[in-house]
Amino acid sequence: MSKIRAGDSSGVDAAPKRDFGERILAMAERLAAHSDSPSGLECTVLRPAHRATAADLLAWMGEAGLSAAIDGIGNVVGRLPAANAAVRTLVIGSHYDTVRNAGKYDGRLGVLAGLAVAEELARRNVALPFHLDVVAFAEEEGVRFLTAYLGSCAFTGRFDPEWLERHDDDGVRLADALAENGFAPTAIPSLSRRSDLAAYLEVHIEQGPVLIAEDLPVGIVSSIAGAVRHAVVITGVAGHAGTVPMSLRHDAAAAAAEIVLLVERRCAAAPGLVGTVGRLAIPNGALNVVPGRCEFTLDIRAVDDATRDAASADVLAEIDRIAARRGVSVDIREIGRSPAVACAPRLAAAFEQAIGRAGLRPFHLVSGAGHDALQFDGICDMAMLFVRCGNGGVSHSPLETVTAADVDVAARVLLDTILVLAESWRSGTPVITA
Ligand code: GLV
Ligand code: MN
Ligand code: MN
Repeated sequence: MSKIRAGDSSGVDAAPKRDFGERILAMAERLAAHSDSPSGLECTVLRPAHRATAADLLAWMGEAGLSAAIDGIGNVVGRLPAANAAVRTLVIGSHYDTVRNAGKYDGRLGVLAGLAVAEELARRNVALPFHLDVVAFAEEEGVRFLTAYLGSCAFTGRFDPEWLERHDDDGVRLADALAENGFAPTAIPSLSRRSDLAAYLEVHIEQGPVLIAEDLPVGIVSSIAGAVRHAVVITGVAGHAGTVPMSLRHDAAAAAAEIVLLVERRCAAAPGLVGTVGRLAIPNGALNVVPGRCEFTLDIRAVDDATRDAASADVLAEIDRIAARRGVSVDIREIGRSPAVACAPRLAAAFEQAIGRAGLRPFHLVSGAGHDALQFDGICDMAMLFVRCGNGGVSHSPLETVTAADVDVAARVLLDTILVLAESWRSGTPVITA
């Protein structure tokens, strides 16, 4: 079969032989069968379900005609190479780890859309002027080690070696979990692909209701909200639930309860600001013991960093006042910080062109959720395409849904966007520099 030059065919007039939507949903279903919990989807980094998921992705990438491998942190990388080995790489990615009791599409949808599109490009024998890598990032959710974006940070050279000392709930160090999986913790800096990156595109389920309200299958992300995250430990005085009078208690859980409501109140005070206590535990708690210790996480986000940082500063100062008043001590550790970032207008314009060619209305929206795309900011241009969520936009929940028809549109738009980028290259006005 002779090579088709990109630009000779668009995703519109050369429709793929396969139905992308049905195929992607079938693959997502298959991946969701790998779970470390019997009561819902749980795929956290470097555990058995994670290994099984990576193995499926690796096999599918190979079957799709990509040269595929798993890197030293568990990122699954499949490459459709350009004829000229010296050019740089367009990366299509998202993550394959999940939260606990997760939906099937958060992260995986973008990986599988990239995979299906790369397979179609390989099937059509399209010669791209840049390498195309489909990357399934090993970790984005921050569930197991309370450190998010491990996969994309390793990929972009932003991995902080201090993270290797973080422990999971069972006391396992990240460094030891890596070694158990056959990965060398000290080799993580060598995984960086920073100098080889031309651009990054990510397809992701919206995880909100905006596209439902707009009656659109896809939307272009204009910017991604930043987050600041803290781990908080309150230490009070444990005591007998029957004998310690209320006025003499130093109840760590009661202090935490007051803080949860403080976060809710402060973060309701500005539009686009959100704050969440997502993990809350009373270690060794018992029915008849006044809690002596309470641990929780704090996640505060906004589309602009100043709003987020002001809320975070207010909350931390008020936590100190609550602790002093209640006679408990508090230890607060910052465990993550990502700035709000804007997506590259030139890539957004390529999405717009592809969406227009598909006969749809281009629509731009902000992402309140964090994404691997954040880690590419400042390294290469990045952009994201959101896919309409069902069930009112619910995500981080087994109720998360998408339709095959919407996924099909997203994959076709992604395919055509890659062709738009290739066309721009060939016409001498490249949108991305390969
Ligand atoms: C990722 O799911 C996030 O926390 O935004
Ligand atoms: Mn998520
Ligand atoms: Mn995600």
